[in-house]
Amino acid sequence: MKDIRKKARERMKGYCRVCPVCNGVACAGQVPGMGGLGTASSFKANVAALAAERFNMRSIHTVETPDTSVSLLGYDLSMPVLAAPIGGVEFNMGGSVSEEDYIRAIILGCREKGTLGCTGDGVPAFIHSAGFAAIQEAGGAGIPFIKPWETAELFEKLEKAEATGAIVWGMDIDAAGLVTLKKMGRPVSPKDAKALSAIIARSKMKCILKGIMTPDEARLAVDAGAQGIVVSNHGGRVLDHTPGVAEVLSAVSSAVRGEIAVLADGGVRSGGDVLKMLALGADAVMIGRPFSVAAVGGLQTGVAAYLDTLRGELIQTMVLTGTARAAEVSPRILYRS
Ligand SMILES: Cc1cc2nc3c(=O)[nH]c(=O)nc-3n(C[C@H](O)[C@H](O)[C@H](O)COP(=O)(O)O)c2cc1C
Repeated sequence: MKDIRKKARERMKGYCRVCPVCNGVACAGQVPGMGGLGTASSFKANVAALAAERFNMRSIHTVETPDTSVSLLGYDLSMPVLAAPIGGVEFNMGGSVSEEDYIRAIILGCREKGTLGCTGDGVPAFIHSAGFAAIQEAGGAGIPFIKPWETAELFEKLEKAEATGAIVWGMDIDAAGLVTLKKMGRPVSPKDAKALSAIIARSKMKCILKGIMTPDEARLAVDAGAQGIVVSNHGGRVLDHTPGVAEVLSAVSSAVRGEIAVLADGGVRSGGDVLKMLALGADAVMIGRPFSVAAVGGLQTGVAAYLDTLRGELIQTMVLTGTARAAEVSPRILYRS
């Protein structure tokens, strides 16, 4: 990973410093760019909340070779880690690789390692079209995310997403307030449960709603017919001053776990962080910015190498917390005084 990160630092110059810990400090306010909105307090809170969780170490047990696999929304995954949807390589990362090359690296790298990558959406059409093409090339192994557009654009994109062969799609409902989109004449809007259920009912694909931060909205997602949620504050890019995802995850997950899939993202940086999110109630996690660094620095090889690193760290943490299966993680592995 050292060479991949070095290359990414050169290629993302002016957009991402590839810091030793990706925590939102150096890039605060850089949206567009790789940062968090405003003071970046939401981005920083994601990282800080995970760092504040610590493990109960256990080594008197029989867990030698833990099982990292999970089943999620009809997919059997080698590990509970997905690449989060990220688009806009040119205006967020400097454009030293093309949108097509970037998203192919994400989707094919994740598939190579037995997991899934997601694709993003934005105003320029090439963002979603590059993503959809990569998912199609991967035989449907990917999750296309579409923004909550106000217009027919949503349904047009949904039809195209279905044609990729994907069995799950997602909507980042927390993009509802993105002023940048409105300024570009392409409004997105919040949607009530009735509007969401009408949208979800339009497609045979399972739907994940991304950007849930409270237990009541998790319930509304279930009522609207979603089969999954992502507990997420969009990596701190849409609203300053939210809590970190790891702070709210237990409560949000408790409201709906067992009924729908619960994913979480924001500040996950290592296999240990993955296990912390699972212990707090996630079935799987998404990771954003570190996958961008891996893809820009090393394309598919970089993404595959990053997943290998995460898997190694996850296995090591599972062994030292006595966790036999990623599909069944006890909250008791986390230290409480
Ligand atoms: C440059 C950039 C672009 C993003 N684009 C999208 C997008 O198109 N759709 C979406 O749902 N989320 C988008 N996100 C949010 C990520 O999917 C994810 O929620 C976030 O990056 C997770 O936090 P992390 O980067 O700290 O892991 C974007 C994030 C970044 C940094």
